[in-house]
Amino acid sequence: MSELATAGVAPGLTTTRAPFIELAQAAGQLYIEQPYELYSAENHQTWSRLLQRMRPRWEHYANPRFLEGIETLRLDPDQVPRCADINRFLEPRTGFKAKPVSGYVPAYKFFDCLKRREFPTTITVRDGGSLDYLPEPDIFHDIAGHVPMHTDRGFADALVQFGQFAERAARRAGEIRDEAERIRVLTSNVKGLARFFWFTVEFGLMRESPGAPIAPGRALAYGSGLLSSYGELAHCVDSPAVQRFPAQTEWILNQYFEIHHYQPLLFVIEDFAHLFYLVHDLERRLDAGLLDNLQPGEPEVNEVDLRSFLDAALAQ
Ligand SMILES: [Fe+2]
Repeated sequence: MSELATAGVAPGLTTTRAPFIELAQAAGQLYIEQPYELYSAENHQTWSRLLQRMRPRWEHYANPRFLEGIETLRLDPDQVPRCADINRFLEPRTGFKAKPVSGYVPAYKFFDCLKRREFPTTITVRDGGSLDYLPEPDIFHDIAGHVPMHTDRGFADALVQFGQFAERAARRAGEIRDEAERIRVLTSNVKGLARFFWFTVEFGLMRESPGAPIAPGRALAYGSGLLSSYGELAHCVDSPAVQRFPAQTEWILNQYFEIHHYQPLLFVIEDFAHLFYLVHDLERRLDAGLLDNLQPGEPEVNEVDLRSFLDAALAQ
C-alpha cells in the first residue's frame, strides 16, 4: 500500500485531533511513516513541557537502566522526536526499532511485532491541557516511557521471547476442535499474557539492587506506564498505600487490574535476569496448559484481540 500524502492535510498530530491519523485509519493503514512536518508548534511545546518536568522525577524514581536508555536516545528537549533518529541510536544496541502506527494494534499483531524487534509506536502527542492523564498511549508514553528500556539487551531479549508466545497460544488453540472450548482457552491465554505484560513491561518495579528490601522509596520503576506518568511515578515508589509483591508468575497471571486509577498493587522483580526467568516460566506454563483456566476479571479480552488470535489459530 502506498504512503499517504501529507500535502493539503491540516497540521496537528494531537491525540484528540489528528486529521492525518483519521485519513490513515480510513484507508486501513496501520503501519505508517511519521508525517513529521504535520506536528504543530503546540505539539512540540507539549512534548517539551512533558520532558522537562519528567526528567527530575526519572532521576529520582527510575531504574538505572532506564536512565542509561534515556541518555542513549538523546531526546531533543524542544522537539517531538523523529522515530528515524531514535532508531539510529536504538537499533545498533539491541536491534529494536520504533515502528510508527496509526492506532490500536490488535494483540496478535502486536506480539508479532515484538518478535521481530519492532515496537508499534503511537506518533500523536497528548493534548497540552491534559499532561497528566491519558487513557491511551501517545508518543511520550511510547518513546519516552517504553523505548529507553529497549536499549537494554536483557530487557529487549525478554520482550522478543514474550512476543513469541502469541504464536504458541494460537498453535495450541488451533488443535482444539470444539469451537466454544477453543475460544474459552484462547480468551484465558490472552488474558494471562495481557496481565503479564501489564505487571512487568507497563507497571513493573525493580528492587534497588538484588536482595534489597521492598519498602516505600526503595523499589524503582522500569514499567513504561509508570515512567510516563508524572503523578504515578512518585506514588508507585513512595506511597505506603501501594502493595508491592515479589514477582511470581502465577500471582501475576491471576491478578486482575483496572486501568483508570493509580495501581494499588505492583510486582517487584530482582533484576532483568529475573524478568527473563519469569518470561521462561510463562512459556513453560503456557505450554503446560496452566494459562487455560485463569482467574476471571480484568482485563476483558476484546473482540478485535480475540479475533486476531482466532484467525492465527485457524491458519495453523
Ligand atoms: Fe504501553
